[in-house]
Amino acid sequence: MLRLGVNIDHVATIRNARGGLHPDPIDAAHSSVRAGADGIVCHLREDRRHISELDLQRLMNEISLPLNLEMAATEEMLEIALRHQPPGVCIVPEKRKEVTTEGGLDVYSQKDHISEFVSTLSDQGMVVSLFVDPEIKQIDASIDVGATAIEIHTGSYCDSNTYAKRDWELKRIQETAEYGFNAGLEVRAGHGISYDTVSPIASITCINELNIGHFLIGESIFTGLESAISKMRRLMDEARQLSLEKNDYRL
Ligand code: PXP
Repeated sequence: MLRLGVNIDHVATIRNARGGLHPDPIDAAHSSVRAGADGIVCHLREDRRHISELDLQRLMNEISLPLNLEMAATEEMLEIALRHQPPGVCIVPEKRKEVTTEGGLDVYSQKDHISEFVSTLSDQGMVVSLFVDPEIKQIDASIDVGATAIEIHTGSYCDSNTYAKRDWELKRIQETAEYGFNAGLEVRAGHGISYDTVSPIASITCINELNIGHFLIGESIFTGLESAISKMRRLMDEARQLSLEKNDYRL
């Protein structure tokens, strides 16, 4: 089963553009539940440009699906995660001026720092994943710091502007996903995924979760959020089913 985590950050981006209460990201989370999401994802940024700590608290109180909190490896965020205790935490790199998460976490160069976060959060029962580029050295480093899950950054694949580049990026994702899976990690993927790019990623059978946000919120302007999520879910499920049949896996 390929899980779908819906990232509702950009509902808060629109709300914050006017500084009021509408649209409410918690309503978007409820819609995501109805449309077949398996989890809700939000990224609490240092500059609070979209999700606020109050949103996080409300998501924890009001939503039945597991919440995955994306956060930078900072003391402030660690305190917040320990206060709210979401079931899952994904550690991401964060630069104040970036428009979105640019590139994966460099676990390899800061193993000591990341391992402290992984152990503190895991000791409290949270499942910790690390958002990494599709590079073997980052996967090895993720294992070294004690992570049980990784999320592979699919941005370079999704943003590829030639078929050759896209194929090359997809191959990197597939190889590193299999490497991580064979080493015992739970492997997820996300960033930049749209209807056009989801199927090849969903076909990689060792990936068990896709986290998708911006495209779904954008598409919801035209079709409604539930319809956008249902379509994404269908494309994911069809691609996974075909891939399993092709590889003659036991269904
Ligand atoms: N996964 C991670 C770790 C992310 O940081 C993001 C963006 O917040 C996503 C998935 C979703 O990316 P997108 O909004 O481009 O679908």
